[in-house]
Amino acid sequence: GSCLESVKIAIDTGYRHIDGAFVYYNEHEVGQAIREKIAEGKIKREDIFYCGKLWNTCHPPELVRPTLEKTLKILQLDYVDLYIIELPMAFKPGDAIYPRDENGKFIYHETDLCATWEAMEACKDAGLAKSIGVSNFNRRQLEMILNKPGLKYKPVSNQVECHPYFTQPKLLEFCRQHDIVIVGYSPLGTSRDESWVNVSSPPLLKDPVLNAIGKKYNKTAAQVALRFSIQRGVVVIPKSFNPQRIRENFQIFDFSLTEKEMKEIEALNKNVRYVELLM
Ligand code: A2P
Repeated sequence: GSCLESVKIAIDTGYRHIDGAFVYYNEHEVGQAIREKIAEGKIKREDIFYCGKLWNTCHPPELVRPTLEKTLKILQLDYVDLYIIELPMAFKPGDAIYPRDENGKFIYHETDLCATWEAMEACKDAGLAKSIGVSNFNRRQLEMILNKPGLKYKPVSNQVECHPYFTQPKLLEFCRQHDIVIVGYSPLGTSRDESWVNVSSPPLLKDPVLNAIGKKYNKTAAQVALRFSIQRGVVVIPKSFNPQRIRENFQIFDFSLTEKEMKEIEALNKNVRYVELLM
Protein backbone atom coordinates (compact mmCIF):
# COMPACT_ATOMS: atom_id res chain seq x y z
CA GLY A 1 0.00 0.00 0.00
CA SER A 2 2.92 2.43 0.49
CA CYS A 3 3.47 2.60 -3.26
CA LEU A 4 -0.21 3.42 -3.89
CA GLU A 5 -0.10 6.26 -1.35
CA SER A 6 3.25 7.60 -2.58
CA VAL A 7 2.17 7.72 -6.22
CA LYS A 8 -1.03 9.54 -5.27
CA ILE A 9 0.95 12.10 -3.23
CA ALA A 10 3.41 12.45 -6.11
CA ILE A 11 0.62 13.14 -8.61
CA ASP A 12 -0.95 15.69 -6.24
CA THR A 13 2.47 17.31 -5.87
CA GLY A 14 2.81 17.67 -9.64
CA TYR A 15 4.87 14.68 -10.74
CA ARG A 16 3.74 13.24 -14.07
CA HIS A 17 6.59 10.90 -15.06
CA ILE A 18 6.33 7.59 -13.20
CA ASP A 19 9.06 5.01 -13.59
CA GLY A 20 7.94 1.44 -13.00
CA ALA A 21 8.71 -2.14 -13.88
CA PHE A 22 7.16 -5.57 -13.69
CA VAL A 23 10.02 -6.70 -11.41
CA TYR A 24 9.20 -4.02 -8.84
CA TYR A 25 6.03 -6.01 -8.10
CA ASN A 26 4.02 -2.87 -7.47
CA GLU A 27 2.63 -2.02 -10.89
CA HIS A 28 -0.87 -2.89 -9.63
CA GLU A 29 -0.54 -0.13 -7.01
CA VAL A 30 0.88 2.37 -9.51
CA GLY A 31 -1.97 1.65 -11.93
CA GLN A 32 -4.53 2.01 -9.16
CA ALA A 33 -3.06 5.36 -8.07
CA ILE A 34 -3.18 6.69 -11.64
CA ARG A 35 -6.74 5.43 -12.15
CA GLU A 36 -7.92 6.91 -8.84
CA LYS A 37 -6.43 10.30 -9.72
CA ILE A 38 -8.10 10.17 -13.14
CA ALA A 39 -11.43 9.27 -11.50
CA GLU A 40 -11.01 12.21 -9.10
CA GLY A 41 -10.61 14.50 -12.10
CA LYS A 42 -7.14 15.54 -10.92
CA ILE A 43 -5.45 14.37 -14.14
CA LYS A 44 -6.22 12.84 -17.50
CA ARG A 45 -4.49 9.69 -18.72
CA GLU A 46 -2.56 11.74 -21.29
CA ASP A 47 -1.05 13.89 -18.52
CA ILE A 48 0.80 10.87 -17.14
CA PHE A 49 4.03 9.50 -18.58
CA TYR A 50 4.37 5.90 -17.42
CA CYS A 51 7.53 3.93 -18.17
CA GLY A 52 7.41 0.14 -18.00
CA LYS A 53 10.27 -2.32 -18.50
CA LEU A 54 10.88 -5.60 -20.28
CA TRP A 55 12.61 -7.98 -17.86
CA ASN A 56 15.59 -10.22 -18.69
CA THR A 57 13.56 -13.43 -18.87
CA CYS A 58 11.37 -11.99 -21.64
CA HIS A 59 13.86 -11.09 -24.37
CA PRO A 60 12.88 -13.71 -26.97
CA PRO A 61 10.91 -11.71 -29.56
CA GLU A 62 7.77 -13.82 -29.26
CA LEU A 63 7.59 -12.99 -25.53
CA VAL A 64 7.86 -9.22 -25.84
CA ARG A 65 4.30 -8.30 -26.72
CA PRO A 66 2.65 -10.80 -24.32
CA THR A 67 4.91 -9.44 -21.55
CA LEU A 68 3.87 -5.87 -22.23
CA GLU A 69 0.23 -6.98 -22.40
CA LYS A 70 0.64 -8.57 -18.97
CA THR A 71 2.02 -5.30 -17.59
CA LEU A 72 -0.93 -3.40 -19.09
CA LYS A 73 -3.33 -5.86 -17.51
CA ILE A 74 -1.69 -5.39 -14.11
CA LEU A 75 -1.72 -1.60 -14.52
CA GLN A 76 -5.24 -1.69 -15.99
CA LEU A 77 -4.14 0.80 -18.59
CA ASP A 78 -4.41 0.64 -22.39
CA TYR A 79 -0.86 1.72 -23.16
CA VAL A 80 2.42 2.71 -21.57
CA ASP A 81 4.08 5.94 -22.61
CA LEU A 82 7.50 4.34 -22.72
CA TYR A 83 8.55 0.70 -22.76
CA ILE A 84 12.22 -0.08 -22.33
CA ILE A 85 14.51 -3.11 -22.39
CA GLU A 86 15.60 -3.13 -18.74
CA LEU A 87 19.02 -4.73 -19.23
CA PRO A 88 21.05 -5.67 -22.29
CA MET A 89 21.44 -9.32 -21.31
CA ALA A 90 18.91 -12.12 -21.07
CA PHE A 91 18.05 -14.77 -18.49
CA LYS A 92 16.48 -18.12 -19.24
CA PRO A 93 12.76 -17.58 -19.93
CA GLY A 94 10.36 -19.03 -17.37
CA ASP A 95 8.64 -18.30 -14.09
CA ALA A 96 11.87 -17.70 -12.15
CA ILE A 97 12.72 -14.00 -12.36
CA TYR A 98 16.31 -14.75 -11.32
CA PRO A 99 16.89 -18.26 -12.70
CA ARG A 100 19.87 -20.02 -11.11
CA ASP A 101 21.47 -23.41 -11.60
CA GLU A 102 22.24 -25.92 -8.83
CA ASN A 103 25.45 -24.00 -8.03
CA GLY A 104 23.57 -20.76 -7.58
CA LYS A 105 24.87 -19.30 -10.84
CA PHE A 106 22.52 -17.23 -13.01
CA ILE A 107 21.24 -19.05 -16.07
CA TYR A 108 21.68 -16.73 -19.00
CA HIS A 109 19.97 -17.05 -22.34
CA GLU A 110 21.32 -16.35 -25.76
CA THR A 111 19.17 -13.82 -27.56
CA ASP A 112 19.64 -11.30 -30.28
CA LEU A 113 19.07 -7.78 -28.96
CA CYS A 114 18.21 -6.61 -32.47
CA ALA A 115 15.42 -9.19 -32.72
CA THR A 116 14.15 -8.11 -29.30
CA TRP A 117 14.21 -4.53 -30.54
CA GLU A 118 12.12 -5.43 -33.61
CA ALA A 119 9.50 -6.90 -31.26
CA MET A 120 9.61 -3.65 -29.27
CA GLU A 121 9.01 -1.73 -32.53
CA ALA A 122 5.96 -3.92 -33.18
CA CYS A 123 4.58 -2.96 -29.73
CA LYS A 124 4.84 0.69 -30.69
CA ASP A 125 3.15 0.02 -34.02
CA ALA A 126 0.35 -1.76 -32.17
CA GLY A 127 -0.17 1.30 -29.95
CA LEU A 128 0.71 -0.56 -26.75
CA ALA A 129 3.72 1.69 -26.14
CA LYS A 130 3.88 5.30 -27.33
CA SER A 131 7.68 5.24 -27.32
CA ILE A 132 10.36 2.62 -26.90
CA GLY A 133 13.80 2.78 -25.35
CA VAL A 134 16.48 0.89 -23.46
CA SER A 135 18.20 0.83 -20.10
CA ASN A 136 21.69 0.01 -18.88
CA PHE A 137 22.96 -0.02 -22.46
CA ASN A 138 26.54 1.04 -23.16
CA ARG A 139 27.65 2.71 -26.35
CA ARG A 140 28.44 -0.56 -28.13
CA GLN A 141 24.99 -1.96 -27.34
CA LEU A 142 23.29 1.26 -28.46
CA GLU A 143 25.24 1.14 -31.70
CA MET A 144 24.04 -2.41 -32.34
CA ILE A 145 20.48 -1.07 -32.38
CA LEU A 146 21.25 2.19 -34.18
CA ASN A 147 23.14 0.34 -36.94
CA LYS A 148 20.57 -2.41 -37.32
CA PRO A 149 19.58 -2.85 -40.98
CA GLY A 150 15.97 -1.78 -41.45
CA LEU A 151 15.75 0.03 -38.10
CA LYS A 152 12.24 1.47 -37.81
CA TYR A 153 12.48 3.42 -34.54
CA LYS A 154 15.55 4.55 -32.63
CA PRO A 155 15.54 4.16 -28.85
CA VAL A 156 14.20 7.48 -27.50
CA SER A 157 15.96 7.06 -24.19
CA ASN A 158 18.58 5.10 -22.27
CA GLN A 159 18.00 4.78 -18.53
CA VAL A 160 21.31 4.49 -16.67
CA GLU A 161 22.79 5.37 -13.29
CA CYS A 162 23.58 9.09 -13.35
CA HIS A 163 24.29 11.60 -10.56
CA PRO A 164 27.14 13.89 -9.41
CA TYR A 165 29.38 10.94 -8.43
CA PHE A 166 28.70 9.11 -11.70
CA THR A 167 28.14 11.76 -14.37
CA GLN A 168 28.51 9.58 -17.49
CA PRO A 169 30.15 12.32 -19.60
CA LYS A 170 30.99 10.11 -22.60
CA LEU A 171 27.68 8.25 -22.76
CA LEU A 172 25.80 11.52 -22.29
CA GLU A 173 27.64 13.09 -25.23
CA PHE A 174 27.08 10.03 -27.43
CA CYS A 175 23.38 9.99 -26.59
CA ARG A 176 23.08 13.73 -27.23
CA GLN A 177 24.54 13.22 -30.71
CA HIS A 178 21.89 10.58 -31.41
CA ASP A 179 18.91 12.37 -29.82
CA ILE A 180 18.66 9.73 -27.12
CA VAL A 181 17.53 11.13 -23.76
CA ILE A 182 19.46 9.93 -20.72
CA VAL A 183 17.14 9.08 -17.84
CA GLY A 184 19.24 9.01 -14.69
CA TYR A 185 18.39 6.43 -12.07
CA SER A 186 19.64 6.67 -8.49
CA PRO A 187 19.86 10.46 -8.91
CA LEU A 188 20.15 10.81 -5.11
CA GLY A 189 22.77 8.11 -4.71
CA THR A 190 20.38 5.20 -3.98
CA SER A 191 18.88 3.91 -0.74
CA ARG A 192 22.27 2.31 0.12
CA ASP A 193 20.69 -1.09 0.50
CA GLU A 194 23.67 -3.42 0.86
CA SER A 195 21.91 -6.25 -0.95
CA TRP A 196 22.32 -4.43 -4.28
CA VAL A 197 24.31 -1.25 -3.66
CA ASN A 198 28.07 -0.80 -3.49
CA VAL A 199 28.18 1.05 -0.16
CA SER A 200 31.95 1.47 -0.18
CA SER A 201 31.32 4.60 -2.24
CA PRO A 202 30.49 7.50 0.12
CA PRO A 203 26.88 8.73 0.48
CA LEU A 204 26.16 11.31 -2.21
CA LEU A 205 23.89 13.50 -0.08
CA LYS A 206 26.59 14.02 2.55
CA ASP A 207 28.84 15.64 -0.04
CA PRO A 208 30.23 18.97 1.26
CA VAL A 209 30.06 20.73 -2.13
CA LEU A 210 26.39 19.81 -2.69
CA ASN A 211 25.56 20.91 0.86
CA ALA A 212 27.48 24.20 0.60
CA ILE A 213 25.79 25.09 -2.70
CA GLY A 214 22.44 24.09 -1.19
CA LYS A 215 23.00 26.47 1.72
CA LYS A 216 23.40 29.39 -0.68
CA TYR A 217 19.98 28.73 -2.25
CA ASN A 218 18.27 27.48 0.92
CA LYS A 219 18.00 24.05 -0.71
CA THR A 220 19.06 20.56 0.37
CA ALA A 221 21.87 18.50 -1.13
CA ALA A 222 19.16 16.31 -2.70
CA GLN A 223 17.59 19.30 -4.45
CA VAL A 224 20.98 20.47 -5.70
CA ALA A 225 21.79 16.98 -7.04
CA LEU A 226 18.46 16.82 -8.90
CA ARG A 227 18.78 20.38 -10.21
CA PHE A 228 22.30 19.60 -11.47
CA SER A 229 21.00 16.65 -13.48
CA ILE A 230 18.01 18.36 -15.06
CA GLN A 231 20.12 21.42 -15.86
CA ARG A 232 22.49 19.23 -17.92
CA GLY A 233 19.56 17.64 -19.72
CA VAL A 234 19.38 14.41 -17.72
CA VAL A 235 15.87 13.29 -16.73
CA VAL A 236 15.71 12.29 -13.06
CA ILE A 237 13.59 9.64 -11.35
CA PRO A 238 14.14 10.16 -7.61
CA LYS A 239 12.51 7.54 -5.42
CA SER A 240 10.86 8.33 -2.11
CA PHE A 241 8.10 6.83 -0.01
CA ASN A 242 8.17 9.82 2.34
CA PRO A 243 5.57 12.56 1.65
CA GLN A 244 7.83 15.38 2.80
CA ARG A 245 10.75 14.19 0.67
CA ILE A 246 8.46 13.53 -2.32
CA ARG A 247 7.48 17.22 -2.14
CA GLU A 248 11.05 18.35 -1.47
CA ASN A 249 12.30 16.57 -4.60
CA PHE A 250 9.79 18.52 -6.70
CA GLN A 251 10.92 21.96 -5.44
CA ILE A 252 13.74 22.27 -7.95
CA PHE A 253 12.23 24.56 -10.56
CA ASP A 254 12.56 27.82 -8.61
CA PHE A 255 16.35 28.15 -8.67
CA SER A 256 19.21 27.52 -11.05
CA LEU A 257 22.88 26.72 -10.64
CA THR A 258 25.54 28.98 -12.13
CA GLU A 259 27.97 27.69 -14.74
CA LYS A 260 30.70 27.70 -12.09
CA GLU A 261 28.57 25.65 -9.71
CA MET A 262 27.71 23.17 -12.49
CA LYS A 263 31.45 22.74 -13.17
CA GLU A 264 32.16 22.30 -9.45
CA ILE A 265 29.55 19.56 -9.22
CA GLU A 266 30.72 17.91 -12.45
CA ALA A 267 34.19 17.72 -10.87
CA LEU A 268 32.77 15.49 -8.11
CA ASN A 269 32.52 12.62 -10.61
CA LYS A 270 34.22 9.51 -9.23
CA ASN A 271 33.36 7.18 -12.10
CA VAL A 272 32.18 4.66 -9.53
CA ARG A 273 28.76 3.05 -9.70
CA TYR A 274 26.53 2.50 -6.69
CA VAL A 275 24.53 -0.02 -8.71
CA GLU A 276 27.07 -2.50 -10.04
CA LEU A 277 24.57 -4.98 -11.54
CA LEU A 278 27.02 -7.78 -10.97
CA MET A 279 24.77 -10.30 -12.68
P1 A2P B 1 12.79 7.61 1.40
O1 A2P B 1 11.99 6.72 0.50
O2 A2P B 1 12.68 7.23 2.84
O3 A2P B 1 12.57 9.07 1.15
P2 A2P B 1 17.49 7.27 -5.39
O4 A2P B 1 16.34 8.06 -5.94
O5 A2P B 1 18.83 7.82 -5.74
O6 A2P B 1 17.35 5.80 -5.65
O7 A2P B 1 17.45 7.45 -3.78
C1 A2P B 1 16.40 6.90 -3.05
C2 A2P B 1 16.73 6.98 -1.57
O8 A2P B 1 16.91 8.33 -1.17
C3 A2P B 1 15.66 6.39 -0.72
O9 A2P B 1 16.27 5.69 0.34
C4 A2P B 1 14.89 7.60 -0.20
O10 A2P B 1 14.37 7.34 1.07
C5 A2P B 1 15.98 8.64 -0.12
N1 A2P B 1 15.52 10.01 -0.40
C6 A2P B 1 14.61 10.42 -1.30
N2 A2P B 1 14.49 11.74 -1.31
C7 A2P B 1 15.36 12.22 -0.40
C8 A2P B 1 15.70 13.53 0.05
N3 A2P B 1 15.11 14.61 -0.45
N4 A2P B 1 16.64 13.64 1.04
C9 A2P B 1 17.21 12.56 1.56
N5 A2P B 1 16.94 11.29 1.17
C10 A2P B 1 16.03 11.12 0.20
